Amino acid sequence: MTITSEDELDGLKVIGRIVANTMQEMGAALEPGITTAELDGIGRAALERDGAVPAPEQAYDFPGATCISVNEEIAHGIPGPRVIAAGDLVNIDVSASKDGFFADTGATFRVGRVRPSLDRLCRDGRKAMQIGIAQVGSDRPLAGIGQAIGAFAARRGYTLVRNLASHGVGRALHEWPGEIATWPVRSERRRINRGLVLTVEPFLSTGALWAREGGDGWTLLAEPAAPVVQYEHTVVATDRGTIIVTLPG
Ligand code: CO
Ligand code: CO
Repeated sequence: MTITSEDELDGLKVIGRIVANTMQEMGAALEPGITTAELDGIGRAALERDGAVPAPEQAYDFPGATCISVNEEIAHGIPGPRVIAAGDLVNIDVSASKDGFFADTGATFRVGRVRPSLDRLCRDGRKAMQIGIAQVGSDRPLAGIGQAIGAFAARRGYTLVRNLASHGVGRALHEWPGEIATWPVRSERRRINRGLVLTVEPFLSTGALWAREGGDGWTLLAEPAAPVVQYEHTVVATDRGTIIVTLPG
């Protein structure tokens, strides 16, 4: 959507804070022994308490309130009996709606101590998102996001998953202007209009290039197999850069 009034911005900020708080609450509950279904239950209860509706379920009939992807899974993992262990990387992606506004956020969490290379990947994954967000603003080229993230990834020796894009959001989970690459795309000529609401969510990896279907119809796996992290905010383009709406508070 394109924000044209303070009321719209306020509505978006309300759901942005709810999904951010929900993700934080789930992240705080992450410990060895918890199942991804239990974690999803915490997320569902938090959304319900705040009067929000889980978007994956509502929009796509996804079998869960949130997406929880562990280690080899990189996105759209289905909550279930899987037990979290120390050393796991767990991606939690929360999207929901309230009063007709949608927001989307995600982060990869470390459970206990993980290998140093994974610590570095997590830190740099968040940085890649921030670098992408810094390219967002009124009348700036949409391709700037993927160019900046691509340059950072190349400099640091990482790969980017090239078939999981960022997207327009706000009045629906995925909407106009469609897919937004977080990797360099030469043919991208669009510009960012003032008030555009979009996600920035690069998938940074130590080797993966693609996401492939895992066989259950939802879960996406890294191809070639390698650790992947994702950090995601919903942002609004303004004349002075961005407003990040998915901040806890
Ligand atoms: Co998301
Ligand atoms: Co998203």
